[in-house]
Amino acid sequence: MGLNLGILISGRGSNMLNLVNASQRGLIKSKVKIVISNNKNSIGIDKAKRKNIKTKIINQKDYESKKDFENALTNTLKNQNVDLVCLAGFMCILSKKFLKEWHRKVINIHPSLLPSFRGKNAVKQALENRVKTAGCSVHFVDEGIDTGEIISQEEVPVSSNDDEETLGKKILKKEHVLYIKVIKELERNCF
Ligand code: GRF
Repeated sequence: MGLNLGILISGRGSNMLNLVNASQRGLIKSKVKIVISNNKNSIGIDKAKRKNIKTKIINQKDYESKKDFENALTNTLKNQNVDLVCLAGFMCILSKKFLKEWHRKVINIHPSLLPSFRGKNAVKQALENRVKTAGCSVHFVDEGIDTGEIISQEEVPVSSNDDEETLGKKILKKEHVLYIKVIKELERNCF
């Protein structure tokens, strides 16, 4: 079953664009109904607009409280009949209340083999820990930082000459494959 996707971003939006392309090319049944950014300068928003996707900036600073900000997120997503919220570089921690409302309907992609290297600079952490295999994970979002139930992962071998940039690029390429794979799995399971 095709899902209605809402994608939340803060920055360049390569995972978002990858999902939009997959949907528009019919590689996944799901449709991207809206792309929301909490950052008005996010490059990803322009990328989405160029693909004729509905976009909206919802910035916490424009609201009196986190509750009001998240209500705006929920209302916007519900107005578009979104049934799966995909975080893709969305730099914001969502509250328990929001996640209760969207229970098992918010997923995130992270550039490490969770539970290793949660939070920021995951690629740098992997290199500092001299791992031989890095990777990426898609997980359900809970209140913690990258702590939710893992849905699927892809491994990326680390070369001795990799730096943060080269390894980051290799991981990002795999992220794009993984996010599509997970959407297809969720389409099949229909939750
Ligand atoms: C990706 O590395 C993702 O794993 C992390 O943030 C980055 C977003 O990149 N959560 P992009 O905006 O999708 O290009």
